[in-house]
Amino acid sequence: MNVEGLEIQNVNVSVIVLAAGKGKRMKSAIPKVMHEVCGRTLLSYVVGASLAVFPGDICVVAAEEHDEILKEFGQRVRIVIQEEPLGTGHAVTLALKTIDERFSEVLVLPGDCPLILPETLNKLLMVRRKGECAASLLTADVKRPEGYGRIIRDHKGDVIKIVEDPDASEEEKKVSEVNSSVYAFERSALEAALKEISPDNAQSEYYLTDAIQKLVARGARISALKGEEVEVTGVNNRKQLAEVRRYMQGRINDRLMEEGVTIVDPESAFIDWGVEIGQDTTIEPYVFIKGETKIGSGCRIGPFTEIRNSIIDDNCTIEFSWLEDSEVGEGCSIGPYSRLRGGCSLGKFVKVGGFVEMKKARVGDGSKVPHLSYMGDTQIGKGVNVGAGTITCNFDGERKYQTLIGDRAFIGSDTMLIAPVKIGDDAATGAGSAIYEDVPDGSLGIERSRQRNIYGWKERRKKRKEGRKGNA
Ligand code: UD1
Ligand code: CA
Repeated sequence: MNVEGLEIQNVNVSVIVLAAGKGKRMKSAIPKVMHEVCGRTLLSYVVGASLAVFPGDICVVAAEEHDEILKEFGQRVRIVIQEEPLGTGHAVTLALKTIDERFSEVLVLPGDCPLILPETLNKLLMVRRKGECAASLLTADVKRPEGYGRIIRDHKGDVIKIVEDPDASEEEKKVSEVNSSVYAFERSALEAALKEISPDNAQSEYYLTDAIQKLVARGARISALKGEEVEVTGVNNRKQLAEVRRYMQGRINDRLMEEGVTIVDPESAFIDWGVEIGQDTTIEPYVFIKGETKIGSGCRIGPFTEIRNSIIDDNCTIEFSWLEDSEVGEGCSIGPYSRLRGGCSLGKFVKVGGFVEMKKARVGDGSKVPHLSYMGDTQIGKGVNVGAGTITCNFDGERKYQTLIGDRAFIGSDTMLIAPVKIGDDAATGAGSAIYEDVPDGSLGIERSRQRNIYGWKERRKKRKEGRKGNA
């Protein structure tokens, strides 16, 4: 089955993703499907999997427009608003009204099953077409069926209905085969069946699941495809959110390892869905890599490191450190215990050692900030050495100012660079100086009060002490 083949096969398919439910069991102020797993919303995974089967049309039934979805999928997805969540059957009815006549097949998915795979969706569409069925359901045998709709079959093994958990009898509750809420329908059959459903049930909702029973009553053919338990896992509460995250993380880490990344302890490598990592990079334990981050090859990241929305070039070492919105050139070494806040850009072979904080700092090739420094709103040239304890005093309580350091400059330990200030190329500052005026190229800036030595101090002090004892 090649991609082109799929494209042709599924042009008649319209996908409906259900995402308008309140998600009461999450106990949350944000809509359930907008909760994140590995840096991506539950809904994004489902929409992503749906788009991967190349349907002719796709709509998301939502309670409101979700900016993130519009941003991620743009024009490729239509949003249908369901103002009141009157049930999955009601949501599908609303969506069908917006779907063009030419779409004869409908694929329905709940927005809370992020582990669903495109291959499974394709299989389900095939099963329905091959069997010339009005509907095909994706089901699974699960260890804990509580909360799910149960698949009820007759003595011949044919599906006759789906019973929701709150409506199920004791006998029905024992059934371990559950409804995934992923279905392939023949559009006209679905439309007809939905006209017959009513909210006469424990939750007073229009259940999409009731459409199955209605189709069976009309003598229509129904088929069921049994899938994997993980794929059908719906997220209804925070515990399921954590379970799904663990599984999704496993998938992400497996993919990276297949691509040639060493992950020392996959259980403690928390890597977001979209992160890219090059070959022969090692991820040490307790590493968090988030957002739109790209890491080159041959790097060593961690242990205990967090990187957010950053680009790290090849052969870098980053340990016990925290980076955000920054770019790191080839061969740099960062940490242990350093922090690059937003807007930093390191050239090649830069060393940022221990206990260094940087913000909006551009550092040229081969420069070093090895110990205990704060570099904020700074441009550092190439081949610069910044001594221990150096601080850019970039804030006067009202405004922030720039510090410029030229190529090959040598900043003495414990220099206070009181911005705005410029240190020229090949210039230096004396240790302990508070530099508030520019230092020209090739010059030494030194600001320090003169040292006084008090000769014979120790001896005199000893005598004073002895005198006091004698008096006592
Ligand atoms: C649903 C199924 C159940 C199945 C389970 C699988 C029904 C009645 N039940 O139950 O058989 O085992 O999924 O996970 O369909 N939604 C709307 N509008 C609404 C109500 C819900 O868009 O008015 C959306 C929700 O946002 C959610 C999806 O539909 O993404 C499923 O709703 P949910 O409340 O999670 O249904 P379950 O009780 O899990
Ligand atoms: Ca659900």
